[in-house]
Amino acid sequence: MKKKFQLSLLDGAGKTGGFSENELKYALDCLSTAQSGQPQYADSLGWLSVSQWAGENWLKKYLEIASHIRSDADAFVVVGVGGSNQAARAVVDALDPPEGSPEIIWAGNTLSAYEVQRLLDKLKSKKSVYIDVIAKNFETLEPGVAFRTLRTFLGDTYGSGWHKRVIVTGTPNMQLHDMSEKYGFTFLPFPENVGGRYTALTPVGLLPMAVAGFDICALVQGAADMESLLRSDSSQDNMALRYAALRNYLYRAGYSVEMLSFFEPRFFRFAKWWVQLFGESEGKGGLGIFPSFASYSEDLHSIGQFVQEGTHCLFETFIDVENPDVSLAPVGDDIDDGFEYLKGLDYFHINRASYQGTLEAHSRILPCFNITVESIDEYTFGQLFYFFMFSCYLSGLILGVNPFDQPGVEAYKKRMFQKLGK
Ligand code: PA5
Repeated sequence: MKKKFQLSLLDGAGKTGGFSENELKYALDCLSTAQSGQPQYADSLGWLSVSQWAGENWLKKYLEIASHIRSDADAFVVVGVGGSNQAARAVVDALDPPEGSPEIIWAGNTLSAYEVQRLLDKLKSKKSVYIDVIAKNFETLEPGVAFRTLRTFLGDTYGSGWHKRVIVTGTPNMQLHDMSEKYGFTFLPFPENVGGRYTALTPVGLLPMAVAGFDICALVQGAADMESLLRSDSSQDNMALRYAALRNYLYRAGYSVEMLSFFEPRFFRFAKWWVQLFGESEGKGGLGIFPSFASYSEDLHSIGQFVQEGTHCLFETFIDVENPDVSLAPVGDDIDDGFEYLKGLDYFHINRASYQGTLEAHSRILPCFNITVESIDEYTFGQLFYFFMFSCYLSGLILGVNPFDQPGVEAYKKRMFQKLGK
């Protein structure tokens, strides 16, 4: 791999000491199954081989469409919810776009009238708006109703040519595709063999990232390098194996909550992606680790108390960024404020001391995974997306659930649609 990506486990209290030979053998069998992909999940494994939806020709196509939009738009509205927007949002939120890029705006993820009105008011101040409607199953209420509202906005604002401003990422031969043919929208396939939360490396995630001006080729490279590593190493050193096997061991030992913790608040949206990935993939049949996250150092002043001394139900997975991307020192003045000890230190070092202190303190009490990445950039996001998607698949296998369905969300939908008269 071009950049560092390391997983370690800090377990000062020895909570994983009982992990047995048999458990390892079972996990290794699951690893070998996940590396080749199970035939019964063939219709959900399109992400396993990165090149399937992010090969050279696909990337060229995404970049061509993105370049056209970038040359004309000052706002690009991504209409989608759950897996249809989280990965792109994670990247767009964390990285700084090149100057002059269109603003990426998120829609189709709320039913709040206030938020939709706020969106429309914001769009009124833009000169040239394009939208990308992303929906695998175009029955989901949030993107469906947002598309209605935005079509009206585009028609009222741009007149008869409004449809040229619509990109649709939908399932071939289904409703969004038919609408594209009929009304002349630009169509991209939502991969039929990839479920929403596994679509980071497909047109669903990559087009919005490219429109925002990010280097999707570097991101895909990071994912492809991670794929080569995780799918070829069949030993107990495989990082996904260690992570998936041990988190399952901890779950069986009573640790039913995992907290993804980070000291760069820019990972907030990435954490939302991670929560969806693990929550929807594993939480079924009365099983599963509850995924949560903490943005430190801020959350040390709230949830930190619980983590250190509360119910022993959680373990932590830290994301540690090794290199600073900004150098900034809190220069003092001649006022005696009690912070003289910071003299000569950079924010990066102060933040790192906070991270190291936290990891040391927490890992004495609860098991802590630590993932070290070199920097926050496109390549790293590619590594992270693939590492967690593969680990999630493997972890689901070890747990004994289908990591690709989400039957539980039908219960509320059925009732909601009844109330709406569908
Ligand atoms: O991971 C999943 O499959 C889901 O969370 C979907 O992404 C989400 O429900 C949105 O579905 P759709 O793209 O069909 O609107």
